[in-house]
Amino acid sequence: MKRSEVIRLLNQDLSGEIEAILVYMRNSFVTGQCRPSRGMEEIAKDEMRHAEWLAELIVDLGGVPTMQHRPLNFGRGGTEGYLKRLIALEEEAIAMYSEHIRLIKDERVASRLKRILEEEIEHRDEFSELLGEVKKGG
Ligand SMILES: [Fe+2]
Ligand SMILES: [Fe+2]
Repeated sequence: MKRSEVIRLLNQDLSGEIEAILVYMRNSFVTGQCRPSRGMEEIAKDEMRHAEWLAELIVDLGGVPTMQHRPLNFGRGGTEGYLKRLIALEEEAIAMYSEHIRLIKDERVASRLKRILEEEIEHRDEFSELLGEVKKGG
């Protein structure tokens, strides 16, 4: 795979991280319940770290980190709807990182993406747990 193609894939990943940061922060701000709101904020910070790692890889490869993202969809229907949207975003991230790990042969890049993928799986599980608590009225 050409270096420019690796940069393109990493910028796709970065774009997803930027979208996640913005959606998680906004949903944290409007969520009154403490534990879900704190969870969204903490995970937004993880996504910022991922964005930083990806930007570093992109710059090292001679690329320019994107700041583009898709139109933001926050989910609807209060805390439960917001958490469902965040779980969907984590699922998308898991699918995209898995695909990019399969495609990218550069060992340094792939091992960093694997580390991020592990954290996205943890995020999905954490949001799912929070959703379970909210549904129980916790
Ligand atoms: Fe992330
Ligand atoms: Fe995540």
